[in-house]
Amino acid sequence: MRDSTLIKKCLEARKSAYVPYSHFAVGAALLCADGKVYTGCNIENASFSPTVCAERTAFFKAVSEGHKDFEAIAICGAPDSEEPTVICPPCGVCRQVMQEFCRPDFRVILYGSEGRTKVYTLSEIMPLRFDLMD
Ligand code: THU
Repeated sequence: MRDSTLIKKCLEARKSAYVPYSHFAVGAALLCADGKVYTGCNIENASFSPTVCAERTAFFKAVSEGHKDFEAIAICGAPDSEEPTVICPPCGVCRQVMQEFCRPDFRVILYGSEGRTKVYTLSEIMPLRFDLMD
């Protein structure tokens, strides 16, 4: 699948973000090895700590449906009153979830408009990872 297709899906997923507290909306689209895509958005909560990021929503949807082999994720984020323009790198907790299920060459596509999109491998954004299975 083209990166541009995965980016379109993360932009679409971002529209479902539930962000009454931060007003910062994030979308993610996770590509499985078999070509299936799971999307996610961030979902906030009045008690704050139950808030879940877009990336983890996508991962947990996929894993809960039996998928554990992943190729790439596209992520976009911005205040909910704006369209995303600059990249929105994943938080440390989401990077830890990525490392649980993904190989070091898993691709992290960070959407930015007008040529600002950046692509990293998981090993680039999560060096010295904690993994009990290594
Ligand atoms: N957020 C994500 O969805 N993904 C990240 O990797 C960083 C943060 C969300 C959580 C919260 O709803 C909002 O962005 C502001 O932190």
